[in-house]
Amino acid sequence: MSGSSFGTIFRVTTWGESHGPALGAVVDGCPAGLPLTEDDFTPLMNRRRPDGGLMSTARSEEDRVEILSGVFEGRTTGTPISLLIRNTDHISSDYSSIAGIYRPGHADFGFDAKYGFRDYRGGGRSSGRETAARVAAGVIAEKVLASLGISFETNVVRIGDVPFAESGEYVRKLRSKGDSAGSEVLCVARGVPAGIGDPVFRKLDAELAGALFSIGAVKAVDVGDGRLAARSTGSANNDAFRAESGRVVTRTNHSGGILGGISTGNDIVLRAYFKPTPSIGLTQDTVTRDGVECETAIRGRHDPVIGPRAAVVVESMAAITILDALLRGMSARLDSVAGFYGREEGPVLPD
Ligand SMILES: Cc1cc2nc3c(=O)[nH]c(=O)nc-3n(C[C@H](O)[C@H](O)[C@H](O)COP(=O)(O)O)c2cc1C
Repeated sequence: MSGSSFGTIFRVTTWGESHGPALGAVVDGCPAGLPLTEDDFTPLMNRRRPDGGLMSTARSEEDRVEILSGVFEGRTTGTPISLLIRNTDHISSDYSSIAGIYRPGHADFGFDAKYGFRDYRGGGRSSGRETAARVAAGVIAEKVLASLGISFETNVVRIGDVPFAESGEYVRKLRSKGDSAGSEVLCVARGVPAGIGDPVFRKLDAELAGALFSIGAVKAVDVGDGRLAARSTGSANNDAFRAESGRVVTRTNHSGGILGGISTGNDIVLRAYFKPTPSIGLTQDTVTRDGVECETAIRGRHDPVIGPRAAVVVESMAAITILDALLRGMSARLDSVAGFYGREEGPVLPD
């Protein structure tokens, strides 16, 4: 089992390598009837693409998504949707110098330890490029959620030690030295109804954390106040309840919209913390696959900071997770099941 599938009802499988001919996703469990065209993918795919600026790699691909199945006359059919993204700007020779060594901070050593063999071109499956397929699947999840009034706002808030808005000079200096920086992404989901998620092993916060941790270079995730809650007190951390026009609401949202693993109807607030990009131009100690110590300085095209390109990946994984939990939740109550099957009188129960 290679762990390439995610979700239960809305199930996403990604496939393909950084330097193969193409990569893509198969999305199973998307409800039928969703309007979907290839143009729908462009805005989110463009948010993940390198823009040639200070914060991203020089590798540039159009990342056009081709729909191979599951859509007929502009609408999803309820069958698996196969999405294809061609790799058009890969230069495998970029990586020949690292074929025989382990890049510090990257996945090379782990892959060799597990498989005894690895696709060294750009990190293969462990490349950030794999996340293009997740964003393509995320487009579909976000479209379904938007039809239910659920939206996302996602931003990079810090680069290394500096607020994002002031980070230009900081990144320029690091980049000129051949170094890289960490980053922090804030993702807020609005309009998620109360009651989504399961109480024990599949708590919504546990699933969201797992989803975000599955993105390369994510080293910590906060839900709501997250780690700050450990320094707080009960009186400061609890979100006091109020009644507003017959609805239960809270005065604050320290919990980040989830209590007991189940959504409260408040904004779901997530932070993903990315480590600095492992591939750096500075000289580092490493060893060869044969166990000989040596030095390496990584050439090739790399993102000096991961957050700016990965923010939309965080959003996509959050959307996929929330949609799957939402669809699973439809079977939680007998009256919902009866309503779905047109038993308007409700379930027939013994007295
Ligand atoms: C969108 C995105 C872009 C990335 N770009 C690079 C890159 O250019 N160079 C690099 O060395 N790592 C990059 N990474 C990080 C590696 O994929 C990641 O650090 C590596 O797979 C090791 O996994 P780990 O850091 O989760 O342990 C990127 C990750 C993401 C999500």
